[in-house]
Amino acid sequence: MQNNYQKQYENYVIRFEKQLKIALANLSNTPQYLREAMEYAVCDGGKRVRPVLCYATADMLGVQLEKVDAFAVALELIHSYSLVHDDLPCMDNDDYRRGKLSTHKKFGEAFGVLAGDGLLNFAFEHVLSKKTFTNEDAKALKFLSYCSGSSGMIGGQTLDLINEKSDKVSEEVLYEIYINKTSKLLIAPIIIASIFSGKDYSDKLGEFGLNLGVMFQISDDFMDAKGDKSNIGKTPGKDEIQDKLTSIKVFGFDGALSRLQYHFDKCLNILKEFENNEFLLEFTKKMFERTK
Ligand code: IPE
Ligand code: IPE
Ligand code: MG
Ligand code: MG
Ligand code: MG
Repeated sequence: MQNNYQKQYENYVIRFEKQLKIALANLSNTPQYLREAMEYAVCDGGKRVRPVLCYATADMLGVQLEKVDAFAVALELIHSYSLVHDDLPCMDNDDYRRGKLSTHKKFGEAFGVLAGDGLLNFAFEHVLSKKTFTNEDAKALKFLSYCSGSSGMIGGQTLDLINEKSDKVSEEVLYEIYINKTSKLLIAPIIIASIFSGKDYSDKLGEFGLNLGVMFQISDDFMDAKGDKSNIGKTPGKDEIQDKLTSIKVFGFDGALSRLQYHFDKCLNILKEFENNEFLLEFTKKMFERTK
């Protein structure tokens, strides 16, 4: 199973990288410097969790992978843009990302902003360029916009910044931040794949994505607190310095650990209701144990 899992993960990543390369070839009218910044931000170093999640859900539900290729690319373009902006001096101010200089450090602050803008727009242009664009594509694209937007990731990032250095330590606000800034972009790949199945799995799979996202962000908090730079590819220890509202600040180490376990168990219980769930069960376990 272990080897099968790794091989399958690699296969999804290979498929995604091929699709990404084809997509990026369409940036030919983009100014060279901006194009380099966009490619720098999206190519190399990422785990490609969102595209893999999209492909794996499609496989679990018997959806042809061709149908979600464009979305796998769009998801990673949007996620990468969110990281570029997250690292800007006006946000988390991080000089390192994915084991190299963050995009604004390499290309300058203004071009970090513009590269992020470019990636976001290109994500939508790419999906809308699908040769045949069906009602399901429209529904999936609408959901992607919602998850990435002001009621999703952008909203979560807003609350993350507003609650920086806050004296009030609120579990409710923490969950609102995590669900929006992180879960929404993990719910998106799962629900998008399910839209192409023709059946409505949105309740169960939405719940799976929500728990997976919170679990993923708690483990990110642990890596920030305890990880090392060479492993996580970004600067550790920043959450405490910037006094972020994190799971560790709200629950303490032990409390955050038990939340991690709680959301992991939730994910497994939901997945167990599905057939062909082997890959996603293992994927969830790997995300639970992750150190990068
Ligand atoms: C980092 O996401 C930001 C969070 C939502 C915690 P990833 O851990 O998926 O980052 P990459 O894509 O592998 O660099
Ligand atoms: C998630 O939070 C960021 C995004 C939604 C882009 P973090 O600020 O903790 O992510 P890292 O640690 O910088 O990757
Ligand atoms: Mg942040
Ligand atoms: Mg950050
Ligand atoms: Mg973090």
